[in-house]
Amino acid sequence: MINIAIIGGGVVGSGVFELLTTNSEIIENKSGKNIVAKWVLDIKKFDPNPYGKALTSNPEDVFGDPDVSIIVETMGGKTAAFEFTKRALSSGRHVVTSNKELVAKHGPELMKLAKANGVHYLFEASVGGGIPIIRPLNHDLAANEILSIIAILNGTTNYILSQMKASGKSFAEALREAKANGYAEADPTADIEGYDSCRKIAILSSIAFGQYVDSDDIYTEGISGVTPEDIQYAQKLNKTIKLVARSKKVSDKIFVRVSPLMIGTDNPLANVEDVFNAILLHGDAVGDTMFYGRGAGKLPTASAVVADIIDIVRHSNKFAVKDWEIPSEGNIVPIEDCEVKMFVRVMCEKLEHGGCEVVCERVEKIFGKVEYINPLWPNEIVFYTGIIKEGDFKKKITEFDLISAIRVHKK
Ligand code: HSE
Repeated sequence: MINIAIIGGGVVGSGVFELLTTNSEIIENKSGKNIVAKWVLDIKKFDPNPYGKALTSNPEDVFGDPDVSIIVETMGGKTAAFEFTKRALSSGRHVVTSNKELVAKHGPELMKLAKANGVHYLFEASVGGGIPIIRPLNHDLAANEILSIIAILNGTTNYILSQMKASGKSFAEALREAKANGYAEADPTADIEGYDSCRKIAILSSIAFGQYVDSDDIYTEGISGVTPEDIQYAQKLNKTIKLVARSKKVSDKIFVRVSPLMIGTDNPLANVEDVFNAILLHGDAVGDTMFYGRGAGKLPTASAVVADIIDIVRHSNKFAVKDWEIPSEGNIVPIEDCEVKMFVRVMCEKLEHGGCEVVCERVEKIFGKVEYINPLWPNEIVFYTGIIKEGDFKKKITEFDLISAIRVHKK
């Protein structure tokens, strides 16, 4: 028998507890062992208590129990979770987590600590919920040089954008609905401002490119500025707007960014709707490969956590994950130097100041040749820029009364 402890009895922790019980026979068949959740550590009071005698608020019950060999950290955050994880690894216990914030911030240190103690630190559930992506990147695609990643990594924002497109709802209305349906967190800032996607692309990039990518260095823009009008323009242009995490190797550095992106409706990511996530990888040998599924939720995420537990039970003496090298100097291409094509809406001047004509002249003077788009509303000029450096665009656009600017996917 293998005894585990779950730290954090919230949505994901309760899913792990439930899955270990409901699928116990399947899990025993696959792992060769009966895996039991002996402890669930949480300071919250549960009424009713789904964990029975396993529930404790005392960490010493977990850490003082010599029978516990695997600890599942599903509490989230990076303060107490970091301390518990270090304590677990230092005491020779394997740790499995869904905590992307902790992996993105302290992954290298925790992986090193795990190695030093001859145990595993596994985090399949930290990216893409139930979608298998960490293990395929570490193992199945190990023969490839990964050339690029383009992905939808946040279910809440994808749901909001899907709702805005399907029924013309405003961002605020769609967010309210996401909360009512239990998709968005009570504080959805990390989702809507892109930080959640940023942590996840940092983890994927660190694995893909073999060096640590610090999420603090990643340019991140969320979806709170996307309007129903922008979405109507995208539809008119046979495109759709998604919150996209993108990264690729550019000579010895890494380009990585999280932002709303207009993508063609023929792109596989365009049809990823609602809370689903998708990750498109391009490897030099395999070519394009896409991973798709439920990126959040109790049982999908528990599915990935329990897979890691089974992996540990089957291969407890082998190291499954390669360390992420810490680069000696900054390894991210500065956002100002990245090339981009922008979809832009700017206001016309008042008629007495020359109206739309004077703004068109200014557009051409400042941006050179652009591709105009017929405006859907009066008093605005709409166009695609040519390929331009982000830093130059930022400076040039200050000459205009900007309505919105959205990056356009370049193949
Ligand atoms: N808040 C996240 C999402 C949950 O909406 O995708 C999974 O990390």
